[in-house]
Parts: sequence; C-alpha cells; structure tokens
Amino acid sequence: MSVLALVPAAGDGVRLGAGIPKALVRLGGVPLVVRAVRGLLDSGAVDHVLIAVRDGDVGEMRDLFADTAAVGVAVGGADRTSSVGAALRCGLREWPGTEIVLVHDAARALTPPALVASLVAAVAGGMDAVVPVLPVADTIKEVDAAGAVERTVDRSRLRAVQTPQAFRRPVLERAYAAGLVDAATDDAGLVERLGVKVHTVPGDPLAFKVTTRWDLELAEHLVGS
Ligand code: CTP
Ligand code: MG
Repeated sequence: MSVLALVPAAGDGVRLGAGIPKALVRLGGVPLVVRAVRGLLDSGAVDHVLIAVRDGDVGEMRDLFADTAAVGVAVGGADRTSSVGAALRCGLREWPGTEIVLVHDAARALTPPALVASLVAAVAGGMDAVVPVLPVADTIKEVDAAGAVERTVDRSRLRAVQTPQAFRRPVLERAYAAGLVDAATDDAGLVERLGVKVHTVPGDPLAFKVTTRWDLELAEHLVGS
C-alpha cells in the first residue's frame, strides 16, 4: 500500500527558546526534522514524506532533503492543524495514489522506525485510525482556576498519545474536510468526531516530543552528544 507521512514542522519552538524554528535545531549535529524524517523512511513502511514549514524556511528545508525525491516541502499554517491540512492537500496532489497517511511531529526526532512500521501495519491490517500510546505514570488531578484540587482522575484508563498517528486516507481527508479543525488537539481527535473508532498500539518512550530545554538535553544524552 502506498504510504504518505505528513510532518508538521512549521512551529516557532517558543517553549524551547532556541531562537530558530525547533525543527531546524540540531541534535548531535543533525536537525530534529532530518532525524524525524529518517526514522519514517528507515521504517521501510513509508513511501513519501511531505513536510510543512514556515514560509521563510522552504528553501533551507528543500536543501536539507535535496538528495531524495521521496520528500516534499509545503508552507504550513498558523497552528499545527492548519499545517497538517496544508501538508495533506499538497501531499495528495503530489502522490495521488496514497492509501495510508501518517502524521508525525518533526519534534519527535528519536521515534524508532519499528514504531512507525507497527502503525502502518495496523492500518494495512484493516484499522481506520491508530495512535501510539503510553500509560500515564503520574497521578492526574483536576484543579479549579485558583489551583485547588477538584478531583483525582482514574489514571488506569488514561493514556498519553504520541505520533506518528496513522489513518486510512479517506478517513483523514474527511476529518480535514469536515470544518471541525479548530476543535481538536491532535489529528485522531478530529477523526473521533466523525464517529470513527481510533485504535491504539503501544507507544515508545523514545517517541517523546522535544518541547523544552530539558527535553533537548535528554535527547542529547540519548544520542551521546
Ligand atoms: N507545528 C506546525 N505548525 C504550527 C505549529 C506547530 O507545523 N503552526 C508543528 C511543530 O513544528 C512541531 C509539531 O507541530 O513539530 C508539534 O508542535 P509543538 O511541539 O507545539 O511545536 P512548536 O509549536 O514549534 O513549539 P511551541 O508550542 O513551544 O512554540
Ligand atoms: Mg506549539
């Protein structure tokens, strides 16, 4: 089956505070987005990749991937959802035979190729939508506006959701066509609103998102730089 991965990489990286877009921040000398795309292609399960970047970064991104025709670049949007929407439109125009679409944060630079392959296999095996999840280690509480605890949530049924998230192509297309795109914090959230069942597979701690300085330091230790 023909598999396209969309990589939103158009964020500013405000919380990391590197002064450049987070996707271009180097980890062991290699930009986060290059590591993330390598992980996708090294899985052997992804045929094409479409990266959404800030307007001013298109040239630099094209240069980073100049040696592979499997990778395209599009201009993203003001929030992650519009970046994914732009990547989806551009990617399907470029590779119209696509049957499975993955969405994967550029910031999850150390995601193991085996995790990517497991998500593609789940959709190829018949599921409409699949996300990688991890159990939640900390106790979770709901608090009011003043920070006082209102209740403790039952942790046993909670999961932290990672990317890549994998979808049968028409399912993601419908989700992005439905006009509900402001109302979810991840792509599976849009699909859930269509009433489509979203399945889970075990995630991997290495698929963590580089969000803060602390995350980048952890990633540097992990790659030995
Ligand atoms: N992203 C995007 N377009 C946006 C905002 C985010 O493509 N307008 C991408 C980021 O580049 C990142 C992924 O979505 O790969 C996850 O977002 P996040 O970790 O929040 O990255 P940033 O938005 O860059 O970081 P921050 O929120 O700290 O500014
Ligand atoms: Mg953000």
